[in-house]
Amino acid sequence: MEALLQKIEAYRQEINDYAGTGAEAAEQFRITYLGTKGLIKNLMGEMKHLPADRKKEFGQILNDFKQFTEARYSALKETGSNGQQSSAAAIDLSLPGDTIPVGSRHPISMMRNRIVSIFQRLGFSVAEGPEIEDDWHNFTALNLPEYHPARDMQDTFYISTDPAWLLRTHTSNIQIREMEKGILPLRIICPGRVYRNETISARSHCFFHQVEGLYIDENVSFADLKQTLYFFVKEMYGNDVSVRFRPSYFPFTEPSAEMDISCQLCKGKGCNVCKYTGWLEILGCGMVHPKVLEHCNIDPAKYTGFAFGMGVERPALLKYGINDIRLFSENDVRFLKQFTGVV
Ligand code: PHE
Repeated sequence: MEALLQKIEAYRQEINDYAGTGAEAAEQFRITYLGTKGLIKNLMGEMKHLPADRKKEFGQILNDFKQFTEARYSALKETGSNGQQSSAAAIDLSLPGDTIPVGSRHPISMMRNRIVSIFQRLGFSVAEGPEIEDDWHNFTALNLPEYHPARDMQDTFYISTDPAWLLRTHTSNIQIREMEKGILPLRIICPGRVYRNETISARSHCFFHQVEGLYIDENVSFADLKQTLYFFVKEMYGNDVSVRFRPSYFPFTEPSAEMDISCQLCKGKGCNVCKYTGWLEILGCGMVHPKVLEHCNIDPAKYTGFAFGMGVERPALLKYGINDIRLFSENDVRFLKQFTGVV
């Protein structure tokens, strides 16, 4: 009897220290201790060898041990099913899903698309070109040879390791590249990012966006240029906008002009946006200089053309009521998401 009690004590310790977890370990535990050929059944079998006066006492001890073992078994089963439950709990199907942030189109892209689509309706197709450009395509071919004072109009970033390369100062480089292909007539619209070494402020930045246009064919006249731009202005700003052309100078066009529209904010009365003139300058334009055509192997006696170029930032500032150009490139989603759905 005493030996049996000692055995039970030892098993109690063993069961207490049982290290396994999970469903498999619980089952193994059940077989070893509680199964039909398990330890407890075995101990019960010992009962018949005991003297009758001790059977009751032993029965109670064994019963107690059985309860202890069963409790340990259910605890073990718990860890088994808990293991499964915790992986199921990781996917709680009743929780709301993670939101996938939906981006919105950048106001500069929206304005560029607007401008481009108006000219596309007139038969212009989109052409693009490199932002890192050589001197020829950005300046020289455009009748801006080295030492030409008009180069100063466009403060340029040169690539320091090789100053033969620069960041384009306008998208006119695309016009040269397209003309060099020699396929005429040519009717293109050239959107893109350009770079100038300007002081960064609310009104100017060291990079901005332009859309330039070029039309080359036989008998293209200044009247065609004006009519094309009138159409653009009406589509873009509405029918009640006045337009004026002022003579100007660009090395690559002759004659050249700047086009103003009546200020949209004060309706021409004068405000701080139009500097109290009632007019806003929106683009430069002119007839392509014969020298530029020659540089691209186009015969100026046969072909003429017009070109124009405008910034994208200023119309976007006006259209969306933004007062600082730097906001466009700060990448602050609180700013950017305001334009979702704005047309
Ligand atoms: N390339 C000129 C600029 O960036 C704009 C322009 C284009 C003017 C075509 C006239 C004709 O300032």
